[in-house]
Amino acid sequence: MYFKYFTIISGFVIFIFSSCTNPTREQATSQSDGSGTPVIEESYLRKGGEITGTVFKNMSGKLKNAMEVGGVSGAIEYCNLAASPLVDSLSRAHSVSIKRTSSKLRNPENAPSTLEMAVIKEYLNPDPGGELPSPKVVIDQHQIHYYAPIFLMDNCLKCHGGVSQDIADADYTVIKRLYPEDQAVGFKTGELRGIWSLTFPRDK
Ligand code: HEC
Repeated sequence: MYFKYFTIISGFVIFIFSSCTNPTREQATSQSDGSGTPVIEESYLRKGGEITGTVFKNMSGKLKNAMEVGGVSGAIEYCNLAASPLVDSLSRAHSVSIKRTSSKLRNPENAPSTLEMAVIKEYLNPDPGGELPSPKVVIDQHQIHYYAPIFLMDNCLKCHGGVSQDIADADYTVIKRLYPEDQAVGFKTGELRGIWSLTFPRDK
C-alpha cells in the first residue's frame, strides 16, 4: 500500500522535474534512429558541422592570402564574421544566426550570452577522464542551438598568441587601436580559443 503511493508520488515528481528541466527531451528522444542519438539532434549536429566547416575554410583561406599580401595588419578584417558575405548568405539560406564567442574577447560585440558562457565553461573544464570537448546541440522551446569548440592553431598565433613573442609589437599596436578592450591574446596552440554558436528557429 505505502509502496504503491510511493511509486505514484515519485513518478509524479520525476515527471515534473523532467518536464521543467528539459521540456523537449521527450519529443526529441521519441524520434530516435536506434543509435541512441535523437534524429533532430543528429541532423543539427551535421548541419552545424557543415556550416561552421564551410565558414572556417573560407575564412582561413582569406586570412592566409591577406597575411601573405599585407601582413597581419592587412589581414585583421578577415577574422570578422560580420564582415563576411559568405556568413551572410549562409545565414539567410539556413535561417540561422552564426556567431563566435569567447571568455577572452577581442571584439566586445561577440560577448557570450549566459547559455554560451555555460558552454564555454563546460568546454574549458572537461570532466577528468571524460570526453574531450565536442560539438553539441541544445534544443529549447523556440530554438535549436549548435555549439562547437574552437581550438587555437599555429596560424592564429600572430594575432592571438603572446604579445611581443608571437605577435609583433607593431601589429599589436594596430590591433589595440581597433580593439582597445582586447583580451584575446596569450593563447597557445591547442588551447580553447572560443566556441561557435549557431541558432536555428525551431519550427523550420
Ligand atoms: C590577422 C589577425 C588574426 C588572425 C591570424 C586570427 N584572428 Fe581571430 N580575431 C582577429 C580579430 C581582429 C578579431 C575580432 C573580429 C571582430 O571584430 O569580430 C578576431 C576574433 C576572433 C574570434 C571571435 C571572438 C572575439 O574574441 O572577438 C575568434 C573565436 C577567433 N578570432 C579565433 C581565431 C582562430 C581560431 C584563428 C586561427 C585559425 C584566428 N582567430 C586567427 C584577428 C585574427
